[in-house]
Amino acid sequence: MSQSSPFLLIPQPRARWMRLDTAQLLKRFYFCERTVLVSCAAWIPAIAPLEIKTSLARFIWQSAETAHALRNRVFELRFPSRLLEEEGPDQSLIELFSAVKDSPSVPAFLLSVGNVLLPALRDSYQSYLAASDSIADGPTHRFLSLALTEKLEQITAYERWTRSELSRNPESRASAHEWANAVADRLSQLGGVGVGAPPAATAAGPLPGSKAYSIPDRPARDPRFWPCRFYWPDVVDSTFPYGEGMQLQLRSAISHLNEVWAIESGGLMLSAFADVLPWEWIRDAARWTYDESRHCRMGYERLIAWGFDPVQLPLGTYIYDSASREDPIYRLGMLYFFETKNIHHKLTRAQRFHDYGDALSEHDMDFDWADETIHAGYGKHWLRELLAVRGEDPAAHDQVRERCGKLVSDYVATATEGEVTGIKKVASALMAQAAQKPAKHSE
Ligand SMILES: [Fe+2]
Ligand SMILES: [Fe+2]
Repeated sequence: MSQSSPFLLIPQPRARWMRLDTAQLLKRFYFCERTVLVSCAAWIPAIAPLEIKTSLARFIWQSAETAHALRNRVFELRFPSRLLEEEGPDQSLIELFSAVKDSPSVPAFLLSVGNVLLPALRDSYQSYLAASDSIADGPTHRFLSLALTEKLEQITAYERWTRSELSRNPESRASAHEWANAVADRLSQLGGVGVGAPPAATAAGPLPGSKAYSIPDRPARDPRFWPCRFYWPDVVDSTFPYGEGMQLQLRSAISHLNEVWAIESGGLMLSAFADVLPWEWIRDAARWTYDESRHCRMGYERLIAWGFDPVQLPLGTYIYDSASREDPIYRLGMLYFFETKNIHHKLTRAQRFHDYGDALSEHDMDFDWADETIHAGYGKHWLRELLAVRGEDPAAHDQVRERCGKLVSDYVATATEGEVTGIKKVASALMAQAAQKPAKHSE
């Protein structure tokens, strides 16, 4: 203690950041999480492996939950809400985070996010947790520690994906590294994410090698599966029964697997309306996309547990394709259309599976039903909000839904004879194999 001071003064690391300093940093993290998740959502359709699509959906949801906690915490710290709506002095940093949306290729995208942006967030969270006060800022410590754990898992997954995507696309190796280096250089010019003062604003222009993002017309599909547009005979032949017994078990699992279209549509609509609708849209759409990825995994895991090989399993594209080159409102519309069309079947089917003694299908269908009731609410609410923001009649959400039905039936009408016989052959081979399996009873 200083002898000459009339006050109690000792070095106080706990007081390094005052309340508003803290809020500034958390606001920066909020924008980083928000921006990186929007770009990831936009890229889901372009990336082929099913494991990457489903995991990206989960990571997007994690980022959205972290961003939401950050946002709330900034408000708790009495930061002016009007300042939370804009990046302010962190604008150049956030522009860089959004620039990865214009990555030139899938490996370039994965490398720039997984090797540059996520590690920068990891390091910043580590520094923040080490330097901030766990007493005064305890509520932040709880969720930011979780966010840090999630970042570590995300980075490990991205490293694995980048290696496999680079080996699938060796021709893009050099440009992917150049791109990631350009992102890393720009980030270091800006002083990183860090926990320091924001850099002086700089007008930097587009990154070298960037390619303006556009929504893919066709979704990339995992080559391990049987590729098709229409994934079950009843899609293209209305006389083909949905089925009972073993056929219903298979049909339902194939349906779940094919909810891959819903992950892709979820990601696209999230990013398409991220700047048009309020924050809650991003949060709901992230949860929605993640839920669809869980439904897709449910189907995949059931089919694999029954002993099928991915090469036997049809993985289609028709619902995605039906909304291609349309206003992205129809991506949202498609989810709403299919969910409201199918939700009333789910509980009956869960009961059927219960009667068969198929606890796994019953379990998955029952959880799926609970998610779908949340989604039906999301669909109606956000279609109305979007129409209102556009100055249109919010009640027109039913017209959007109806047009989705028309888009799908028009697209289904383009099925060729070869496609119809092809999918019937694949379906009957699956049913024949299923019939040969020894009956197993769940415990
Ligand atoms: Fe679903
Ligand atoms: Fe859903």
